[in-house]
Amino acid sequence: MLYKGIIFDLDGVICHTDKYHYKAWKKLADQIGVYFDRTINNRLRGVSRMESLEIILENYDGELTDDEKKTLAEQKNNYYRELLNNMSRADLSDEVYDTLIALRQAGCKLAIGSSSKNAGFILKKIGLGEFFDAVSDGNNISHSKPDPEVFLKAAEYINLAPAECLVVEDAESGIEAAINGGFDSAAIGDAVNCVKAMYTLRSIEDLKEIVII
Ligand code: BG6
Ligand code: MG
Repeated sequence: MLYKGIIFDLDGVICHTDKYHYKAWKKLADQIGVYFDRTINNRLRGVSRMESLEIILENYDGELTDDEKKTLAEQKNNYYRELLNNMSRADLSDEVYDTLIALRQAGCKLAIGSSSKNAGFILKKIGLGEFFDAVSDGNNISHSKPDPEVFLKAAEYINLAPAECLVVEDAESGIEAAINGGFDSAAIGDAVNCVKAMYTLRSIEDLKEIVII
């Protein structure tokens, strides 16, 4: 087997919470009168909540205090959590679930490497609360992607070296984080045009051919 461990980003890879991030940020941006679209949203993939807010505020005409920014980020998170509340096992696609099972049966350790502080909540909602061998997320890191910290922690939690793991990402910042940490990387979704990725996936099922030989 080419890799002993697979580290998955969550939002936009395991499930489509990326669309809820967009909706929640859009609601906040409209509320404060800031232009926001899907192109700007793509820059927020893999980026922490506060850093995402800073990117959105590039189009804000005025100054905000740190407390005001904190309040805005909390509001966005409340909008986001309202959307997450409606998630269920139905938000986990068959192709994702079948791929995870096949990789595990082949002997791979499976971990999450996500910048989100809501990762545990989302995993429970989609029925994967106890599934992964390790979860490294926004709660155990101090630097977000493209810093490799979240993936290095994930590898450490599953007792593997970066060179033994493959990172699966939908964000360019995530592909860069993988490379910065010494991991091979596979791009899916919005990241497929990222030339730095080692593999490009049309579907998550392509992982079976790459990993299980
Ligand atoms: C990442 C998303 O997974 O998590 C980013 O790609 C998001 O868009 C980041 O900003 C932080 O998420 P949360 O849930 O902690 O606000
Ligand atoms: Mg993502």
